[in-house]
Amino acid sequence: MGYAKIIGVGKYLPDNVVTNEYLSTIVETNDEWISTRTGMKERRITTGEDTTDLAVEAAKNALYNAGISAEEIDLIIVATTSPDSLIPCMACRVQEQIGAVNAAAFDLTAACSGLIYGLNIGKNFICSGQFKKVLVIGSEVLSKIVDWTDRNTCVLFGDGASALVIAESEDIDGIKSVHIGADGSKGKYLTCSALKLENIFVNDDKEYDNKIRMNGKEIFKFAVNIISDSIRQILDENNLSMDDIKYVVCHQANSRIIEFAAKRLNADVKKFYMDMDKFGNTSSASIGIALDDIVKDGMLNKGDKVIIAGFGGGLTWGSALIEWAIE
Ligand code: ACO
Repeated sequence: MGYAKIIGVGKYLPDNVVTNEYLSTIVETNDEWISTRTGMKERRITTGEDTTDLAVEAAKNALYNAGISAEEIDLIIVATTSPDSLIPCMACRVQEQIGAVNAAAFDLTAACSGLIYGLNIGKNFICSGQFKKVLVIGSEVLSKIVDWTDRNTCVLFGDGASALVIAESEDIDGIKSVHIGADGSKGKYLTCSALKLENIFVNDDKEYDNKIRMNGKEIFKFAVNIISDSIRQILDENNLSMDDIKYVVCHQANSRIIEFAAKRLNADVKKFYMDMDKFGNTSSASIGIALDDIVKDGMLNKGDKVIIAGFGGGLTWGSALIEWAIE
């Protein structure tokens, strides 16, 4: 088994900025409630671009940053819960639009844990020797499945995309201790229906709710526990302490979830990167968006260790130890 490493990161966000003040004009809420309960101040909401459009731009940026061409990619995985079509999948659309003519392509759905699920799959393809370069994208236009009359959810989510290029590595074991998991018994806490069961034999008149519904308190408890437990597991199995970790990049669902998780670990919350104030919760895109910002700000050097940890609908979770491999 060889190694895999991240060789490029990219992101793309729609231009349209939606502030807490704006949201207070469409539902009964206010900046004080949203920012103190979630850490969010603004998010981006598309005015026309769909999930593929965001994915394509994030992919181009990641390829540019990796310094490779689209033809070199062997596999494209798009993690999304808000696709713009079922057939073709987003990954095939991206494949066509970026000209990745040599790539296999498929989508996966693991909600906000999707990017880490994709990273795990891509790493395994590379380490088994089947592929040399894999593009993993998280792309979401959650504004399509948000109920804009429900203040419990509409203030939380944003649209955006991020992409990671991973490649075979001879020197650095750049993606290690990857853990993914799920607890379907808690799936009821975060739901959104897809297509209605209707065919020549079935005429189901049951109401289908194709908007996000959430039990925020249950997700909150789940998230604090799973994030802190996963980080502890990664530290223990690599004989590391938090002093060895440059940053922890969690799914950006709520600053209080991250603060509670840091407290449970007795860790300095300053190590936990947060940008939900700018972008809200962009589901499968959020960890990659944060990583791209960290890289752009020159905050990572080759050899630095970063823990990523996500959780989301399903309920699902994922975590990994990244050794930064880019100079
Ligand atoms: N503005 C003003 N008041 C609000 C708003 C709002 N936007 N939303 C809810 N409230 C009210 C509620 O109606 C409630 O009022 P009541 O007491 O009169 O009934 C009150 O505020 C308190 O509501 P709670 O739900 O108890 O608020 P809480 O402190 O739990 O915060 C929140 C809610 C922010 C949703 C929190 O539970 C949370 O972040 N949970 C995790 C959510 C999450 O991570 N979701 C996504 C995970 S997976 C994925 O990313 C797809």
